[in-house]
Amino acid sequence: MNMSEQNTPSAAGARIATDSAGGAETSAPYGATAPRRRTRIHHLREYKRRGEAWAMLTSYDTYTARIFDQAGIPVLLVGDSAANTVYGYESSLPITVDELLPLVRAVAGAAEHSLVVADLPFGSYQASPEQALHTAVMFMKAGAHAVKLEGGRRYASHVEALVSAGIPVMGHLGFTPQSEHGLGGYRVQGRGDQVENLLADARALQDVGAFAVVLEMVSSDAAKRVTGELEIPTVGIGAGPECDAQVLVWTDMAGLNTGQTPRFVKRYAEVGNELARAASEFASDVRNGEFPTSEHSFD
Ligand code: KIV
Repeated sequence: MNMSEQNTPSAAGARIATDSAGGAETSAPYGATAPRRRTRIHHLREYKRRGEAWAMLTSYDTYTARIFDQAGIPVLLVGDSAANTVYGYESSLPITVDELLPLVRAVAGAAEHSLVVADLPFGSYQASPEQALHTAVMFMKAGAHAVKLEGGRRYASHVEALVSAGIPVMGHLGFTPQSEHGLGGYRVQGRGDQVENLLADARALQDVGAFAVVLEMVSSDAAKRVTGELEIPTVGIGAGPECDAQVLVWTDMAGLNTGQTPRFVKRYAEVGNELARAASEFASDVRNGEFPTSEHSFD
């Protein structure tokens, strides 16, 4: 295997982590059993340098984390979209740190290779850099390898405080769901002269050490411009094909959510329909006495 194959995001299960100088990562110090084949933030920068696109998926539990990890998804996001997908809230605003922490523990415990990013919930970081640090530390102690927070220049000092404490930060710009009411609903961002603002926010995040930035529901032209001007990777969701990476909410892309999905979602499976079929077949087998048989019973 040559060096360029070793860290390709598509080489599922065959990634060998290398340090920024390209050498093999040494074993964990102090006898710790830290995994040595983990995607690291310097790999993401390296993918950008090489022009290799990569994928990020949300995950909220052990099984999907294990499946996506084995499928070679380099970054898993325990998103505050769990507010909708796990807890059934109308928006991401109600979810709390206490509700998100156990999901982070489950995902981080199952992911052997993927970099696990934890979203900081609404109200858990905005007040001050100190509040952001306090919350981010809880997520890192739960096993996350990085955190994500929404907002640009206004939160640069918050991001700086986390980065100074050794916590990798992913930014989130464009349509930021935690500001849904301030933004006046689900609207595409970055059109016309808004692009200069978007760019200034993205640069501010990069300048204080963010390692990547999500661009959500941003016009393709604006996303292309930001991607071209940043050294750190952009991760698009509804931001066109020019971003360095793409993210989708797994329940949308796999069709677990059988309701309407946004235009930017591509459905790769119909897991919801398949689960409904399995559940009704099970119920019908029980009603008809076809389950359990001797095959599923003990003597
Ligand atoms: O919470 C989430 O799932 C997200 C993605 C949509 C980027 O923030």
